[in-house]
Amino acid sequence: MVCLGNICRSPMAKAILIKKLYDKNITWVEVDSAGTSDYHAGSKADHRTMESGLKHGIDLSSHRGRQFSQRDFEMFDLIYAMDNENYSDILHQASNDEEAKKVKLILNELSPVSNMPVPDPWFGGEQDFEKVFTLLDKACDIIVNKIQFEEKV
Ligand code: 4NP
Repeated sequence: MVCLGNICRSPMAKAILIKKLYDKNITWVEVDSAGTSDYHAGSKADHRTMESGLKHGIDLSSHRGRQFSQRDFEMFDLIYAMDNENYSDILHQASNDEEAKKVKLILNELSPVSNMPVPDPWFGGEQDFEKVFTLLDKACDIIVNKIQFEEKV
């Protein structure tokens, strides 16, 4: 799960997906998050992200920001970008077609080929974080279903 700062959207996406996988007893999937920037490397999740998570029973207190790196292409089968800018930043770092094919825009799981972004809530308020949660919660439901029924995600 990749966004710009790795303190708002992608940590939330990671935490939601991990909870859904845990609830379905799916133990063979590894999930992580990163930012395309290093602005918040080593930082905790934004306090508004943590508050939004807690409202939904998700604890983000152990999150620490890290920057996306080329090694992530080796470590992960799927790389979900939160918006179009993250998507192209990641794609530029792919060194071959196989790596490029791993990169997807997360809301295309909800609305295929619509190329909708998860809106950046950084300059927003509580409601914007809630909206991010709702979008990611729906997208992660679809991702978990695909994993569960071993469809190609
Ligand atoms: P995120 O949100 O990409 O969802 O973590 C942002 C966090 C920080 C900044 C931008 C977006 N920033 O410019 O510092």
